[in-house]
Amino acid sequence: MSSNIVWHEASISKSERREKNHHHSFILWFTGLSASGKSSIANSLARRLFEQGNQSFVLDGDNIRHGLNKDLGFDENSRKENIRRIGEVSKLFVESGQIVLTAFISPYKEDRNVVRALVEEGEFIEVYVKCSVEECARRDPKGLYEKARKNEIKNFTGISAPYEAPDNPEIVVDSEQYSIEECTEQLINFLVEKGYIE
Ligand code: PPS
Repeated sequence: MSSNIVWHEASISKSERREKNHHHSFILWFTGLSASGKSSIANSLARRLFEQGNQSFVLDGDNIRHGLNKDLGFDENSRKENIRRIGEVSKLFVESGQIVLTAFISPYKEDRNVVRALVEEGEFIEVYVKCSVEECARRDPKGLYEKARKNEIKNFTGISAPYEAPDNPEIVVDSEQYSIEECTEQLINFLVEKGYIE
């Protein structure tokens, strides 16, 4: 970090913003293989939250890699930097009083735990979107598993790069067994039960 920089306190606090929004602010961190349903479930949940009057926003891997993180690839260090930046951006969303839903493969436990440590207790909800690599490869909506099998894409998660499933996620949604709508409902129930939303 460069010297000669000084932290400025915000004139509006996180708790004032939460009070105004009438809800808590936190990160719903979706992790799972490509084609597991992270983005679909995050977007479906965001729609439900929006309709209930909650301030929420989705940060999605493919989209963020078109802009903010377009300089990053898929080697281990690039993925680490990808998640580090998203973690920092997510923290800003929490400060701004919003619910941020992030849909990134985020294959390394350590990187996800770095984000968890960035925010306060209870502000990081790890959502494991569980789906076997066989089922993801069967879905293959973008044809990427096919390309990875032919070695046309290197470092492809689940095929030629690792995926470390969470040990203790706050919640697991099984997208192999349940539909997008059912997984969304499970998440809404979890958030209500834990007092995150009304
Ligand atoms: S990571 O691991 O968290 O940094 O990845 P993420 O930013 O979520 O980006 C994943 C999307 O990028 C596409 N893609 C790849 N995924 C995995 N491995 C490789 N090598 C790769 N190359 C491109 C793919 O469309 C992922 O989107 P999702 O939505 O996960 O299917």
